[in-house]
Amino acid sequence: RLCEKYMTDYKDKYGGRNLVVSMLDITDRSKAEADIREAYEMQTLLNAMLQRSLENVPLPDKLSRHLSDLLAAPWLSVEAKGAVFLATPRSRELVMAAQQGLSPELITKCAKVPFGTCLCGQAAATGLPAISTDIGPEHQITYEGIHAHGHYCAPIIAEGKVLGVLNLYLKAGAALSERQVRFVRAAADVMAENILHSQVEEKFSQSQKMEAVGLLAGGVAHDFNNILTAIKCYTEFIRKALAPGDPKLDDVNEISSSVERAISLTRQLLAFSRRQILAPQVVDINKTLGEMTNMLRRIIGEHITLKTNLFSAPCLVKADPGQLEQVIMNLAVNARDAMPGGGTITLETEIIRPDEEFFYVRPELPIGQLVRLRVSDTGTGMTAEVKSRLFEPFFTTKEQGKGTGLGLPMVFGIVKQSNGEIEVESEPGKGAAFIVYLPFAEKPLSFKDGEAKGKDKDKGGKAEEPAAGSHETVLLVEDEDTLRRLGERVLRNNGYTVLAAADGQAALKLMEERGQPVDLLMTDVVMPGMSGRDLAKALHRKKLIGRTLYMSGYTDDAIVKHGVLEPGIAFIYKPFTVDALVLKLREVLDGPADKAKA
Ligand SMILES: Nc1ncnc2c1ncn2[C@@H]1O[C@H](COP(=O)(O)OP(=O)(O)OP(=O)(O)O)[C@@H](O)[C@H]1O
Ligand SMILES: [Mg+2]
Repeated sequence: RLCEKYMTDYKDKYGGRNLVVSMLDITDRSKAEADIREAYEMQTLLNAMLQRSLENVPLPDKLSRHLSDLLAAPWLSVEAKGAVFLATPRSRELVMAAQQGLSPELITKCAKVPFGTCLCGQAAATGLPAISTDIGPEHQITYEGIHAHGHYCAPIIAEGKVLGVLNLYLKAGAALSERQVRFVRAAADVMAENILHSQVEEKFSQSQKMEAVGLLAGGVAHDFNNILTAIKCYTEFIRKALAPGDPKLDDVNEISSSVERAISLTRQLLAFSRRQILAPQVVDINKTLGEMTNMLRRIIGEHITLKTNLFSAPCLVKADPGQLEQVIMNLAVNARDAMPGGGTITLETEIIRPDEEFFYVRPELPIGQLVRLRVSDTGTGMTAEVKSRLFEPFFTTKEQGKGTGLGLPMVFGIVKQSNGEIEVESEPGKGAAFIVYLPFAEKPLSFKDGEAKGKDKDKGGKAEEPAAGSHETVLLVEDEDTLRRLGERVLRNNGYTVLAAADGQAALKLMEERGQPVDLLMTDVVMPGMSGRDLAKALHRKKLIGRTLYMSGYTDDAIVKHGVLEPGIAFIYKPFTVDALVLKLREVLDGPADKAKA
């Protein structure tokens, strides 16, 4: 026990010297003081770690500095040695992210530790601290010259998920006190917060990069669409003007097929930049997959096994069915290409109800039930470098002429435009899994239902009129000279009377001077000055147009919200062919008026 000794001497009345010694037992008091000091130092250290958490420092550096602070605390009964591991959930492995005092041999041996192996792996697998007081059989990773020591391996956990492990070395026979255990848990919590935060940040900077590339690609694709529409239509004029057997026909066909290729690239770029016009319906992904399996089997070939594992209930999502098929097809084709020697592609679906933390690291997903579509393969897998660039347009590892690198950007654009998220899990040699999350759609409400509910039906419409010939008058508004001239020509050749204007203001003026309505307004959506939509609404109010047909090469808020076409609107996608335009014109003029609203 700890005592304080007090001595007093005094002279008694006989002149003798006396000594009085008293002892005070201060064991409890000094322990209390030490406790207060230790608690204060623990709090100070945790505060410093929290402070550091706010700094703009890469995660491994942050973890490494946390670790060295912990190991330097004189009141913590640990050796000056330790490590922090990050968990990779797919391969169920721990990867060393920071260390101090470990021998080079151990750094190599413990660079990756499978869940369940050794003490750190135990902590990761169980989510509970793994403790040993000396080297024993639980030390599965050993090395020559290993000297006696114990371990305290604390799992780093957030919202029930193991994100990593903090590994501390104890002196042989030593153990952490209860208070120290609490402290280590708090330190692990700070690290958990840091890891989550860095995951969110990484997603955010990735999504910013994609946003910028998307903007650029979308702008280029929009201009290309107009140019390609013109080339395509004029090529058709030439073809029609040539006599059968004319040798120039071969050249014309070459031009046509090159234009087709350019159009298909442009479409993919538009899809990537999320400027594609989608016609979403509520679809059951299970049904889509079921309908696609035969086709997929043919495409992937006999050397690859296709397995499906579909959720028992309908996996309803709101998406454009054609685009959803594109997503599945692209992922399956990539999986096939990653398995030249054969293997297995697995398609899985599930309806999930994720916890808060899931949405915290995926802030763009709407909170609620989700449908998860997983396309996995047993192929070559990919490096971290490839993984980080997958969704960039034109990124491909395939040899020239084999891949354009537009498959995944397109998938990315479609998923994002459908309010979803896409993620990849892959490592070299370990196959790959693409996981698509889409919001679960509660009711099987179809696009057609939406249309039927459209309120402002055009009462003056000619829905009931029988199909008419091409005698109608059309007002064509298009700011691109080539396209306007082209449109006039197609319309006149097909018997329509045409009025043309280069922009909204000119069109309004023209119609006011004319004073009587035209049957159809055919207008570009995106134009300088007045938008096509505003023009149509203005002319509709003045009762100067019967129906409207919009033309556009990409999405715009005037008629589409986030690329989703409003019900009841007639629309033709640029680039169109002459035949497609002629057909569309009849469809719009002969169909119900409430399908060609302003
Ligand atoms: N399942 C997979 N396994 C391994 N690597 C993949 C997988 N899927 C995609 N990749 C990698 O991502 C790259 C980009 O894929 P993406 O689909 O965008 O383009 P691509 O397949 O190369 O060409 P494209 O699809 O335009 O024909 C591929 O070249 C490949 O390196
Ligand atoms: Mg591809």
